[in-house]
Amino acid sequence: MCGIMGYIGSKEVEPILLDGLSKLEYRGYDSAGIAVVKEGKVKIEKKEGKLKILEERLKAKSLKGNVGIGHTRWATHGSPSDKNSHPHSDCSGKIAVVHNGIIENYLYLREWLQSEGHNFTSETDTEVLPHLVEHYYQGNLQEAVQKVLTKVEGSFAFAVCCEDEPDKLVVARQDSPLVLGLGDGENFVASDIPAILNYTRDTYILDDGQMAVVTADGIEVFDFKGNEVDKKIFRVKWDAAAAEKGGYDHFMIKEIHEQPKAIRETLTGRISENKSSVLFDENVALTKERVSRIDKIAIVACGTAYHAGLVGKYVMEKTLHIPVETDIASEFRYRDPLINKRTLMIVISQSGETADTLAALREAKRKGARVLAITNVVGSSVSREADDVIYTWAGPEIAVASTKAYITQLASLYLVAVYLAEKLGTMDAQVRKNFLQELEQLPEKAELVLQDEERIQKLAKEFVAWDDSFFIGRSLDYAVALEGSLKLKEISYIHAEAYAAGELKHGTLALIVPGIPVMALVTQEDIYEKTVSNIKEVKARDAFVTAIAFEGRKEIEKVVDQVIYLPRTTTLLAPILTVIPLQLLAYYGAVERGEDVDKPRNLAKSVTVE
Ligand code: G6P
Repeated sequence: MCGIMGYIGSKEVEPILLDGLSKLEYRGYDSAGIAVVKEGKVKIEKKEGKLKILEERLKAKSLKGNVGIGHTRWATHGSPSDKNSHPHSDCSGKIAVVHNGIIENYLYLREWLQSEGHNFTSETDTEVLPHLVEHYYQGNLQEAVQKVLTKVEGSFAFAVCCEDEPDKLVVARQDSPLVLGLGDGENFVASDIPAILNYTRDTYILDDGQMAVVTADGIEVFDFKGNEVDKKIFRVKWDAAAAEKGGYDHFMIKEIHEQPKAIRETLTGRISENKSSVLFDENVALTKERVSRIDKIAIVACGTAYHAGLVGKYVMEKTLHIPVETDIASEFRYRDPLINKRTLMIVISQSGETADTLAALREAKRKGARVLAITNVVGSSVSREADDVIYTWAGPEIAVASTKAYITQLASLYLVAVYLAEKLGTMDAQVRKNFLQELEQLPEKAELVLQDEERIQKLAKEFVAWDDSFFIGRSLDYAVALEGSLKLKEISYIHAEAYAAGELKHGTLALIVPGIPVMALVTQEDIYEKTVSNIKEVKARDAFVTAIAFEGRKEIEKVVDQVIYLPRTTTLLAPILTVIPLQLLAYYGAVERGEDVDKPRNLAKSVTVE
């Protein structure tokens, strides 16, 4: 976790670092700091709390200079505090380091460095880095960092500046993202592209096992042994405005409204003209022969992406008649999963950098499975390590609570299901055609659902009056209920329990008291009556029930307190529409409670630690 920003050039560095860090706060925001090299001295300012606290401090005590590094932190080793904030420096104060990731052997290194006389001032794993650089420094920062890289284990992206070599930054990457921005007489370092888009679109995406020496005039990339690497420029096509709020109060609501467009982007160019086939580009090489060997699908992800994977399970089992298991990545890798070369593993990750998902991917590859990644970030670790890659094309998602990434993960999973079904012969051409035509209509239907925004805003008031709430549904509705409850929990801090409607009577029904809000999802036609019976069970205990159902299901009004109607679509595709009112509910619940919608407490957008 954490965000890194670096600049070297002729401009004042402080505003550039702060601007870049503001785009990276989604990666963590429990403290922030910058180091600037000025007139042969490294100066550091860092503060616990969000970036704006550091900004306030810098207003009174500005750091002038043209070279510097900055950091926004999500604590792993050592609580959020001024002393644990980055940048960290060595004993002499000449070297400063910002780091994202975890140095796994830091305890050993720390003890060793202490025995060599180094003084540590923080509880972090990161602090071993500047002391190691100091230990190895003999007048050449690049060589010192190269030696450090032979000592450290774990995941990291870090940037170093040194007052004895004020004309350069040295950076390195292993298992945590790092992007280099190429400017004219200036260059940039960042954990993610939005941080540098105000300045350049030309980037080098550093690979694992690579380091770089960044000066104002150029960037040289090396492997950890010091061999120069020839990098290709990756030109970013989307602009900085796409990563800004665009007139909305929060990124989350902007991203919710971007969903119709995002689904369109995911589908664009991937459905054949006659509508009966799914076409993927050269990133997917799942031939008919390869597909015919698959006897099991394992879907692995974390958080919201895991909930998308649950929808994928229902959809793929129905369309492919192959067993599909969906697992939480952190569970999957430690239970010696039963997978082999006949397994197709599908990893889903918005960021493509989630440590547990990446580790699960590696485990699957070790066991011979073929790995298909569904990710939003081009050049991410997951995209580079998977055999096949489908980009969701949702555009940058900034709010910590995932919305448009989820919806495009669903759209991608539907495409994969049809793609595999065609190869396996489990869905005939007419059925595929009907399904894909319905899929293509979802952006417009999603727009219609968004028109109910004001009603849902009012409904949010019912929820915020309570500390507990319930989301119930069966089959695909249950998978979406899980996502709806997660959204509400993570940003409004209202406890939300998602339950399979048929399971209520085995426990949760005991928690239903008069007036308590229950959201009942009733889109699955084959089990409609069964779900209605479960709704009656909670109504009999006087819960306040809102149903989400397809238009035309008028009779449900007699059973519940109010209904949110969705435009009709095929049952299997319902999740794409059902989730939208739930996202809006969570958003307005958090706004109503005055919470920090885009940056919920204790969470971060990208979790690059286990
Ligand atoms: C974090 C985010 C979630 C996200 C999860 C997985 O917990 O807050 O919104 O669903 O990580 O992230 P990924 O980038 O792998 O989809």
